[in-house]
Amino acid sequence: MSGINYSEKIPNNVHLDSDRTLQRALEHWQPHFLQWWHEMGPTDFESADVYLRTAISVDAQGWAHYGAVHMPEYRWGIFLADPVPERKIGFGDAMGQPVWQQVPGEYRSTLRRLIVTQGDTEPASVEQQRMLGHACPSLYDLRNLFQVNVEEGRHLWAMVYLLHAYFGRDGREEAEELLARHSGDADKPRILTTFNEPMRDWLSFFCFTYFTDRDGKYQLKSFAESAFDPLSRTCRFMLTEEAHHMFVGETGISRVVKRTLEVMKELGTDDPARIRAHGAIDLPTLQRYLNYWCSSSLDLFGSEISSNSAQNFASGMKGRPDETQYEDHVLRDKTLKLVMPDGEQEVPVLNALNEVMRESYLKDCEIGLKRWNRQIERAGHALRLSLPSSRFRRSIGPWAGLPVDPQGRLIEKSLYEKNLGSWIPSAADQAFIQSLMRKVIEPGKMAAWIAPPERGINSLPVEYEYVKLH
Ligand SMILES: [Fe+2]
Ligand SMILES: [Fe+2]
Repeated sequence: MSGINYSEKIPNNVHLDSDRTLQRALEHWQPHFLQWWHEMGPTDFESADVYLRTAISVDAQGWAHYGAVHMPEYRWGIFLADPVPERKIGFGDAMGQPVWQQVPGEYRSTLRRLIVTQGDTEPASVEQQRMLGHACPSLYDLRNLFQVNVEEGRHLWAMVYLLHAYFGRDGREEAEELLARHSGDADKPRILTTFNEPMRDWLSFFCFTYFTDRDGKYQLKSFAESAFDPLSRTCRFMLTEEAHHMFVGETGISRVVKRTLEVMKELGTDDPARIRAHGAIDLPTLQRYLNYWCSSSLDLFGSEISSNSAQNFASGMKGRPDETQYEDHVLRDKTLKLVMPDGEQEVPVLNALNEVMRESYLKDCEIGLKRWNRQIERAGHALRLSLPSSRFRRSIGPWAGLPVDPQGRLIEKSLYEKNLGSWIPSAADQAFIQSLMRKVIEPGKMAAWIAPPERGINSLPVEYEYVKLH
């Protein structure tokens, strides 16, 4: 079951050849996907040989093959984690009952919406990142960008498979729509705001892979718990791929910090202007980028109080990330205290699950912060990077639009407006970061604003020519 069949047009481990109708429908969608990749995927690198990993098995051990690939020839396909025998629903009102192999009629439209919303983010991020190749800080980074891009493309396949296989004509229509909406498009934008934000520089890319791909990880973890077994199995395998995306973000920011500390030492100063003049990114600017992308990603979890989240959980459609770590999996009659703009409020936990997820996400975000702050501490500096409060700069939920500072305090609107430019990147910050974005493509060379990685990909040296440009 674990092996992937590459002899077919669409690589898969779901015995696609035994369902001719489904196979034909997906084969009909495939050229549309390739056309989308050609028009909306990474610009101008179609003939480059990129050292990419391709899934060959869904085993936790040794699941990938590495080799030079032209991106348009990447073998996108349908890979589900192996089924868990006798799997039972692990939470909600139907806990203990067998999981669903088909979509129950009463949950059909909700499940379809959840899958479409998740699916929409995958091609959206490829679109957001399509110009970045022209400003890569190294060939190593260029390869990582493209690895993330092809895997987000594969994640689209993962969701489209579910739509085609389990949602009939509606599902096929949704699959077409996933290619018709575009990031930042005035008429047909992507569904979620963060996935319409422009991404013009690599500092934003590293923040995006750190914060926004981590939101993806948490969404996938909650779907991995789903009673709808095909969704659970799809998401479990996507998580294996997703880990690399967050690695790119965490190590990317860590290398920026390392380089900045080197420059600070060399110049004997922490003066941002002098650090910038030396071509490195001062830490206060990095902090503003962290504030921006973290707060933008926090909205992706939805409102603090949500009857939809209660319904999704009670029905078994969507659990909490790592559901087994909790003691109570039903959550009837449980309450939770939430801090609201007008004081503390006690709400049923079932209605506060978005907030529960957001809190565990923020804990996960702290891991990188600790690592970066250790680097700063070891270099003998007092500054510490931090995450903004989950109430800062929200546009969804009870804190939406309120003047809250990064520490979470409600402040005067005039004070907020005066200071916002020092909390998130100003136009001048963006122009400075943009001025650093120069393509570096000599094997082993790095742009001046980032340190080399500690090691290369798949035991190859950092100097390896990870992308051969033609
Ligand atoms: Fe993804
Ligand atoms: Fe991702």
